[in-house]
Amino acid sequence: MTQDELKRAVGQAAARYVAENAPEGSIIGVGTGSTANCFVDALAPNGYRYKGAVASSEATRKRLESHGIAVFDLNDVADLPLYVDGADEIDAGLNMIKGGGGALTREKIVAAVARKFICIADSSKVVGIMGRFPLPVEVIPMARAHVVRELAKLGGIALLREGFVTDNGNIILDIKGLAIVDPKGLEAQINQIAGVVTNGLFAIRPADLLLLGTGEGVKTIF
Ligand code: 5RP
Repeated sequence: MTQDELKRAVGQAAARYVAENAPEGSIIGVGTGSTANCFVDALAPNGYRYKGAVASSEATRKRLESHGIAVFDLNDVADLPLYVDGADEIDAGLNMIKGGGGALTREKIVAAVARKFICIADSSKVVGIMGRFPLPVEVIPMARAHVVRELAKLGGIALLREGFVTDNGNIILDIKGLAIVDPKGLEAQINQIAGVVTNGLFAIRPADLLLLGTGEGVKTIF
């Protein structure tokens, strides 16, 4: 199977999971990226079961709305039973690097509210130790040079994502050269740097369940 076919398969599996596990009439958290798009497309035919969705990016909001799915402001939602999103890397503890699409901050906020985080990924995303995929960090523009210097002290080489502005009006630095042996510790440490909005490590709040697309079908991993 191609990577696109695996993404479609996990998107469909996630839509089935949501149909079986989300209370009828609930609001679903929806992530960002090509795998999350497959989930949105698979969710749409069952849209009548759900009251609507909270989107982790403007791109996802538009895609949901193009399918006729109502999109709610997170501030108006008291309970989010499930959040479904992709990942750039995921390890055996279901810690993730996210933010390849630059939506990491809103993704982290929606994930923080959700009771359960379902990660959807194809098998190319599974790693032993995270860090080969450059770690995205959302930064307030005036703090760019300071954050680059502070990340260098941690052994990271920061590259500005050229021509990219987040939905929050900030920049993204992609950090190479980090061997992430302590994901929780590094997540907290980078977030302490003045000017960092958040970084793409999802270890303090990892996924609860992984639907993994493989050549042998979609595997459910806790
Ligand atoms: C966007 C993300 C995505 O979940 C991540 O980049 C994976 O994307 P894709 O499903 O396209 O491989 O974190 O900010």
